[in-house]
Amino acid sequence: MTQAYLKQHRDRFVTELKTLVHFASVSAQPQHAGDCAACATWLAEHFRAMGLHAKLHRTKGHPIIIAETPHRAGAPTVLIYGHYDVQPPEPLELWRTPPFEPTVRGGKLFGRGASDNKGQFFAHVKAVETYLRTGTPLPVNVVFLIEGEEETGSFALAEFVKRHGRTLRPDYIVVSDTGMFSKDHPSITLGTRGIAALDVRVDGPSRDLHSGVFGGSIANPAMVLAQLLASCVDTDGRVTVPGFYDDVLALTPAERRELARLPFDEKAYAKLLGVPALVGEKGHSTLARRWARPTFEINGMSSGYQGEGSKTIVPSFAVAKISCRLVPDQEPRRIYRLVERHLRRVCPKSVRLTITEGHHSAAHLSGRNKTGTQAAARALARVHGRKPVFVREGGSLPILNDFKRWLGGEIVLVGLGLPDDNWHSPNEKMDLANYQRGIAVGVELLRELAR
Ligand code: BES
Ligand code: MN
Repeated sequence: MTQAYLKQHRDRFVTELKTLVHFASVSAQPQHAGDCAACATWLAEHFRAMGLHAKLHRTKGHPIIIAETPHRAGAPTVLIYGHYDVQPPEPLELWRTPPFEPTVRGGKLFGRGASDNKGQFFAHVKAVETYLRTGTPLPVNVVFLIEGEEETGSFALAEFVKRHGRTLRPDYIVVSDTGMFSKDHPSITLGTRGIAALDVRVDGPSRDLHSGVFGGSIANPAMVLAQLLASCVDTDGRVTVPGFYDDVLALTPAERRELARLPFDEKAYAKLLGVPALVGEKGHSTLARRWARPTFEINGMSSGYQGEGSKTIVPSFAVAKISCRLVPDQEPRRIYRLVERHLRRVCPKSVRLTITEGHHSAAHLSGRNKTGTQAAARALARVHGRKPVFVREGGSLPILNDFKRWLGGEIVLVGLGLPDDNWHSPNEKMDLANYQRGIAVGVELLRELAR
């Protein structure tokens, strides 16, 4: 019965996803606060129309939605997490169709947030709808927890679960906010990396100065910043911040073998990313470097004149945004302090250095033999006709730490995104075949979790 329903309502599932993607729910940009609120309200209404008890919680930031299926005593509780907020769409000129005018081309729905994360969590929403509308008894209690600040650090949600966690107490936490290894590889994500972010600012002269008149007599803040940052990584791709690797948990030989068994095509990967070559920490495979090794990245840098033509100045200041991706068992605050200490130590006295601590969260790592993970493996196998691969991811889901601390329950990460979905990039898309399969996975997963 559920199969027929999935088929019959295919097109509507897409139409509704388009409606959801149409909201410009960019959490980082204050001018979009209204769009975030409107998106949350639409979702709450959508849940109510489906027969769920839905509540919109106002926060200091963007609203959180909690929606529960009618209670079934004795059945396990499955919390399904997702985020309706999206990354900023800029640069707009690189989009083939506008980011918030969702458009279907070649079986893919293009739009900011189509895959990260609207299409992924909405697949679970449609799965629950399928039970309710076909009169198929839901074998579990489902609680949807959908937030609007994932892309900016989940601050309100962290506070929310700390306060209300005890009333939720899920047996399982299902998150589809990761990717599949490939279109042909249903995947279960066992780990995500942590993160420690910081801003670095180097101040020199009190104003931009003529570089001919004054150059050579004072430090150039842009050059000092470049040197400071360059001092953090060596030519072998290793982070040189003292103590940085102290607590890194090495891959076990079995894990390494398993990574090596995954059909990873380095050439195709380089092509997909548009780079002439792959590089990174020496002595570790590309997948290991992405999933199980820490990094030091410059996310943004600016200084001096960036307009047309030339302007001969010594800039007054230079800034950079840094984030380190972390792995088990690195402690984010410790990493921040190590980086800060290193930068202060190597910074010359000729400039003023300001370092500001940003958001941070620890990595997540789970085991494959847990009941929820095995249930997800069966559900994926049933829908895809092949067993899933177990992978890790390089991205971060900071809220998992708060879930572990305040909610409990086994965390199960079932990614429905694809490697070429263009998350955080122009022309983000959701593959619609994958979306429809994701809904079927959602249906099977709830069945398996109840076993
Ligand atoms: N969906 C991603 C997280 C993700 C990306 C998991 C790739 C696995 C693979 C999420 O929306 C995201 O981008 N998170 C941020 C968190 C940050 C803002 C703290 C990230 O990873 O940069
Ligand atoms: Mn996401």
